[in-house]
Amino acid sequence: MNFKKEINRLNTNSVKWDLMAIEGKPEGTIPMWVADMDFEAPKEVKKALKRIVCKNVYGYSFQPDSYYAAVSNWFKKRYNFEFAKEQIVTTPGVVTAVGAAVRAFTQPGDAVIIQRPVYYPFSMMIEKNGRRVVNNPLMNVEGRYIMDIEDFERKIAENNVKLFILCNPHNPVGRVWTKEELLPIAEICEKYGVTVVSDEIHCDFVLDGKKHLPFACVNENAKNYTVTCTAPSKTFNLAGLQTSNIVILNRDLRKAFADEIERMSVGMLSPMGIVACTAAYEHGEKWLKGLKKTIEGNRDYMKAYIEEHIPELSMCELEGTYLAWVDMSGLAMTNEELKEFMVKKVKIWVDDGDMFGPEGENFARFNLACPQTTVERACKQLEEAVLAKMR
Ligand SMILES: Cc1ncc(COP(=O)(O)O)c(C=O)c1O
Repeated sequence: MNFKKEINRLNTNSVKWDLMAIEGKPEGTIPMWVADMDFEAPKEVKKALKRIVCKNVYGYSFQPDSYYAAVSNWFKKRYNFEFAKEQIVTTPGVVTAVGAAVRAFTQPGDAVIIQRPVYYPFSMMIEKNGRRVVNNPLMNVEGRYIMDIEDFERKIAENNVKLFILCNPHNPVGRVWTKEELLPIAEICEKYGVTVVSDEIHCDFVLDGKKHLPFACVNENAKNYTVTCTAPSKTFNLAGLQTSNIVILNRDLRKAFADEIERMSVGMLSPMGIVACTAAYEHGEKWLKGLKKTIEGNRDYMKAYIEEHIPELSMCELEGTYLAWVDMSGLAMTNEELKEFMVKKVKIWVDDGDMFGPEGENFARFNLACPQTTVERACKQLEEAVLAKMR
């Protein structure tokens, strides 16, 4: 467990690192974009993978009972969310699951509601499947985003919305939704017969002792119309192993979803994913505790640094995820100027805010799942570029 070590990830086919040269990013660029971590996974994951690699045989595999027990024990223990083996549908990713849910629960032309700025594959999965995006924009109240519940209900009623894709906790705005916020949303969805896909991939990154509330547990009925997307991929840095667990308690919804996964024939996991997921959920709790401390430290460092040295910027409250959402509008640049400034002057590869919808213009998303020394360098580069530009 070493969250201080800087790991050289170059020449590992890393999207985050090795695409820098291919995309022509300037020398010295710090990659803080795509959401994977610059940390080693828990050592038990390596041990489990080694057993497979030593045999050097990678045939078709199935999930043993121990796999399902590891997944369900994790969610029961941490979130009091109980489900059985039969209620899990495996997929190679959460985005795959979101796309499958869009097809399973809506018809072409139907409306699907999301809350922008939000993880951009949501819109992509809706539009690429020939459905319509209806946006219920989040409201930024002095750096803390809240839901507009009235607008949510109005848009559902007006557009005959069939599906809601919730991000819980929310990427990129970093909110951990409370029971008080989720309850009215659940009541509206129930009233209008809206199925909810709750993307909870970031649920293990709820910071400062706050609690994650699975949407399916928000009240007695929510489990009947909720599809919960979970995965060990963000939590334990296993994204490349393509293993997700989609929990659906309602039998009809689960059948419709599983049928869609079967039509695509993507339900079978890799032998590596199976053992890594099992080992991580069985043994990774202590490791995760250390990781969360590191993320909190990075967040506090960056927030304090911005407040003290770069007052033109402001970082939103980061309650959950490891992604800092920074308002750059104080630099008084156009959105396009800001993007160029980040690449050419600051030399930090961020996710530009407008990827998450036009509501994200003049924002940037920084990935803080890296050693603090990286965050320190990034803050310094940011400050120097802003100084050179503004003063
Ligand atoms: C909210 C959210 N959902 C899903 C994903 C990706 O999931 P997967 O790689 O399992 O498709 C991410 C990755 O950043 C994410 O932030």
